[in-house]
Amino acid sequence: MYTFNELQTQIEKKIDALEFSTSAEGLFEPMKYILSIGGKRLRPILVLMAANLFKDNLDKVYLPAIGIEVFHNFTLLHDDVMDNAPIRRNMATVHEKWNSNVAILSGDAMSIKAYQFIVSCENKYLSSVLNVFNQTALEVCEGQQFDMEFEDRTDVHVDEYLNMIRLKTAVLLAGSLKMGAIMADADEEDADALYHFGLNLGMAFQLQDDLLDTFGDESVFGKKIGGDILCNKKTYLLIKAQELAKGDAKIEIEKWIGEGEFNPEEKIAAVRKIYEDLNVRDLVELEIDIYFNLCQDYLASVNVDDKKKENFTLLVKGLINRSV
Ligand code: IPE
Ligand code: IPE
Ligand code: MG
Ligand code: MG
Ligand code: MG
Repeated sequence: MYTFNELQTQIEKKIDALEFSTSAEGLFEPMKYILSIGGKRLRPILVLMAANLFKDNLDKVYLPAIGIEVFHNFTLLHDDVMDNAPIRRNMATVHEKWNSNVAILSGDAMSIKAYQFIVSCENKYLSSVLNVFNQTALEVCEGQQFDMEFEDRTDVHVDEYLNMIRLKTAVLLAGSLKMGAIMADADEEDADALYHFGLNLGMAFQLQDDLLDTFGDESVFGKKIGGDILCNKKTYLLIKAQELAKGDAKIEIEKWIGEGEFNPEEKIAAVRKIYEDLNVRDLVELEIDIYFNLCQDYLASVNVDDKKKENFTLLVKGLINRSV
């Protein structure tokens, strides 16, 4: 069995060695840039860890796994344009360093590169792998669409939020695990249990991301703290705050959401203060616990030796306290 760190090192090496040569250098520079400035490599590691539960030799799984990382990075290029985000992985975002058109087109090319890597899986798995990937990729777009639409709504229900994060984030973690399981001949029941493990892990992961976006340490998290507040993102924090706020707090939160022109730092500080006063952070943490517990239940239902699942248990433990 390979550990998380061993797989991360291998992925890093293989990403480093990728050649993206073309006559249009300007198309590939941003790809190389975004792929070279770090990231946890969580999704390709999930592909490999899932496969490793059922087989030892992962040689043929690496390239499709890298395809998933390239796809993830493509979504980040476009997401940063959509969210007007200046920093990622402690570096300038692609649209800041170049411009939005570059981020859009390089992102498009990355999504095609992702396919090239994914279809390099063994032929016998191709159709199943592509079915999972295509479904997942479309769902990510659906989630991103809801995420944007919710910015302009004030009546987003918590169930709509949960569905939105399931689509924009959780399905890619889930799909990565399922693709890994498929590429290692796991039976359908185990592949589905891993998918559901990933869905619940992904829900916890995005709830944490939202929490870190407001309360994280910018230099560790690597993204501009308060970005979600500035965009009126309907996060669990904001939805709960809107639900719980009464009197002056209610008036103030609605004022900040409706304000067209504002000092960004002032808005971030004011909204964060409301969150603190209402203790909504505790509520998010409770919700995160629920999803981490659910994901452990699904892990328990996978039919492999408990010993083999230890790496997954460690991964979950590592993510529970993440700050990056
Ligand atoms: C960022 O994903 C996008 C979300 C789904 C929250 P990660 O937190 O996995 O980002 P990197 O790849 O490690 O930078
Ligand atoms: C990310 O959601 C989901 C996708 C990129 C598909 P966020 O917008 O919260 O991700 P970050 O915080 O920018 O990484
Ligand atoms: Mg974003
Ligand atoms: Mg976003
Ligand atoms: Mg975020």
